[in-house]
Amino acid sequence: MASPLPAVHDTPDPDFAELLARRPQLKAHALDGLLMDEVPLVQIARAVGTPSWVYSAATLRRRYGALRDALAEAGLDASIHFAAKANDSLAVLRVLAAEGAGADVVSEGELRAARAAGIPAGRIVFSGVGKSHREIALALEEGILQINAESAEEVERISEVASAIGRVAPVSLRINPDVDARTHAKISTGLAENKFGIAYTDAAALYARMASLPGIRPIGLAVHIGSQITEGMAGYRAAYSRVAELAQALIGRGLPVERLDCGGGLGIPYRDEVPPSPAALAGAIKATLGPLGLPVMLEPGRWIAGPAGVLLASVVLQKRGQNRRFVVLDAAMNDLVRPAMYDAWHGILPLAPDLLHAPLSPADVVGPVCESGDTFTRGRALPDLPPGALVAFLDAGAYGATMSSTYNARPLAAEVLVDGHRWAVTRPRQTHEALLANQVMPEWLGAGA
Ligand code: LLP
Repeated sequence: MASPLPAVHDTPDPDFAELLARRPQLKAHALDGLLMDEVPLVQIARAVGTPSWVYSAATLRRRYGALRDALAEAGLDASIHFAAKANDSLAVLRVLAAEGAGADVVSEGELRAARAAGIPAGRIVFSGVGKSHREIALALEEGILQINAESAEEVERISEVASAIGRVAPVSLRINPDVDARTHAKISTGLAENKFGIAYTDAAALYARMASLPGIRPIGLAVHIGSQITEGMAGYRAAYSRVAELAQALIGRGLPVERLDCGGGLGIPYRDEVPPSPAALAGAIKATLGPLGLPVMLEPGRWIAGPAGVLLASVVLQKRGQNRRFVVLDAAMNDLVRPAMYDAWHGILPLAPDLLHAPLSPADVVGPVCESGDTFTRGRALPDLPPGALVAFLDAGAYGATMSSTYNARPLAAEVLVDGHRWAVTRPRQTHEALLANQVMPEWLGAGA
């Protein structure tokens, strides 16, 4: 059986100074310790408690802007639709909405969140392999920009639902290009063996069928090959080339193709990865899809939000194992599941100024959940971390809070937005009362003790 513990790397971990150097939103202040933008994180941890997610509005704006500029500099007519699954905090979505971002949503809940945050329906794309009748109807009633259909069965369903409510659905076909994005198996989506998209060889016939169905207006093609793509542009280029070829063939047959959705997936450096830059992605889009002269769309999640967030946690206790030091935190796999689920590596920095310069020794950092998989990292060089010491998990702004659960009856952590020197709680910590509140006891079980 595979080990449930995080992977062991063969290159040395980046040290605290290296982690900080690559993250302009974080600074070590001699007196206040770790700052996010202008706010000492210790101040937030003391006021709000831990575990807590903290997001930097300035970082969200900066990264959204960098992506938009890279696309514009490549001469592309491009729109950015933030993948709400990465972070569906209404405050985060509102910051991005104010910059002009649209959203990529995959459920009724995400559609509602995007709308509640002020993202216009006309900038929302609905993706996902299993949209229900209700979700399709809601999307059409809202008047969203497009639905990305993932199967022939879904195309028929969209036609039925749209016809029944007297709407015409703008539909893009998501192609499965069968290319290897060279990312973690659990987040690869563009291989024939993955459940996503329509087989490339079936796509042209289905597109033609869409044009003949009532309630459907075919508007283009979409592709998304995977997430946390760090190993070059080859996968992207191969996928976009296939989309270009198919779009050309469809146009040649007189079918309407208005725009192309290039998906998301651009990776970020969690440890020492060197992912392709936005300029490289823009260049690959330009080189492959540019000749078609169509508007393009992007659905990034992680690249925009990942580096914008941290998860703050407190040390519950340090425990000496037989030959290991365990740092037991009040955050656990129910909060940040990425290490348990994908062997993901997240930087961990102490918040107090003295701890940023104290002697280091190896530690396993774990949560209190009753599973060995509740291990954030093994053998990490960290200072002595007494009970009450505060730490931050870095790059936790994407697939952090959105993937958390209440496993072990642990309330959902608080969320905080930092904007320059200001900060506010944007989602209070779930209370224990709220955790139990929506359960209903069958009356035949009696009143209890
Ligand atoms: N578009 C579609 C259709 C997607 O399925 C996804 C992500 C995105 C866009 C955004 O991808 P991004 O730019 O964020 O890579 N929970 C995993 C990641 C799952 C990604 C699922 N799809 C993780 O924590 O690494």
